[in-house]
Amino acid sequence: MLPWFRDQFPLYLAPMAGVTDMVFRHLAKPFGVDVMVTEFVSAEGIFRRNERTLEYLEFSEEERPLGVQLFGADPGHLAEAAQIVRDWKRPDFLDLNFGCPVNKVVSKNGGSALLRDCPLLEKVARAVVDAVAPLPVTAKIRIGWDDASINASTTARILEECGIQAIAVHGRTKAQGYGGEADWDVISEVAASVRVPVIGNGDIASAADVKCRMASGVRGVMIGRAAMCAPWIFREIKHHLVTGELLPPPPLEQQWAHILTHCRREVQRQGSELHAMQSMRTQLMHYSRGMPEAKRLRDRFARVSTLAGIEEIASEHLASAETGVMA
Ligand SMILES: Cc1cc2nc3c(=O)[nH]c(=O)nc-3n(C[C@H](O)[C@H](O)[C@H](O)COP(=O)(O)O)c2cc1C
Repeated sequence: MLPWFRDQFPLYLAPMAGVTDMVFRHLAKPFGVDVMVTEFVSAEGIFRRNERTLEYLEFSEEERPLGVQLFGADPGHLAEAAQIVRDWKRPDFLDLNFGCPVNKVVSKNGGSALLRDCPLLEKVARAVVDAVAPLPVTAKIRIGWDDASINASTTARILEECGIQAIAVHGRTKAQGYGGEADWDVISEVAASVRVPVIGNGDIASAADVKCRMASGVRGVMIGRAAMCAPWIFREIKHHLVTGELLPPPPLEQQWAHILTHCRREVQRQGSELHAMQSMRTQLMHYSRGMPEAKRLRDRFARVSTLAGIEEIASEHLASAETGVMA
């Protein structure tokens, strides 16, 4: 059994391509994330030793326990890529992506495409488990391809049979993309149909949501978009599970301190201030959710291109929040 399921109900930070990079993960960890997974990484890219792909494998020791998530559809290439990752980065586990709905991935039979090709899914899972044993391998699935083919329990049993040690289930079909609602009844059915831990994922937006979802029989939860906007959600959840109280969000000064640190570290990582700040714009939009005067903040974020610029926005926003007048 993976150690983080032994005596706790682990909170996973969901892998989110373009969001949960090393800087994001490093900053989120102290809020109480128990387990991290990298953004998905192309097994073909690793197999071909593509330099840019290898960059996605970077993580720091503080992020452990951490899994590297791979996607692909060729069992042999996936097995070799998994061995390369194991030998090079020594992650705590590998995670297989069987949920990505993006056309570029699905059209090459990767991600959620494997949900409708169970024989290939089985070959992929078995090849990777065998290639890296005893390193644990986990998987992340959706509940099915579309409404007419919901097969998550069958998929989960196949994966368990192959030696997959935990399964994260995003309660949507591929066809749903990110629309509609996650179906926690199906997640609950999956949890009841396998012995390995099932991690529930989809639409968790608050500490109270986690408490309510614990009744579904999952052994942990995975949080994505809510953490993208408010990474402190992990602290709120832990506090709620222990005390029953609901913590308010951190004061605005603390939120800004977090945002500014995120920007500075991203600039450090990327080297170019302009590129880093441009790439931070979407993340800044997420952070603005729940802040006062969010719309005006977003207009300014859309144009920010320097650290001095974001620092100026921060001090003006904080001053106006105190006086009640937005600059
Ligand atoms: C921007 C974005 C990128 C994502 N990238 C990945 C990914 O690389 N691997 C993966 O398994 N899931 C990915 N997902 C799906 C999330 O991990 C998660 O399953 C989904 O957002 C549902 O959880 P939530 O409702 O808590 O956001 C991504 C989601 C978003 C919004």
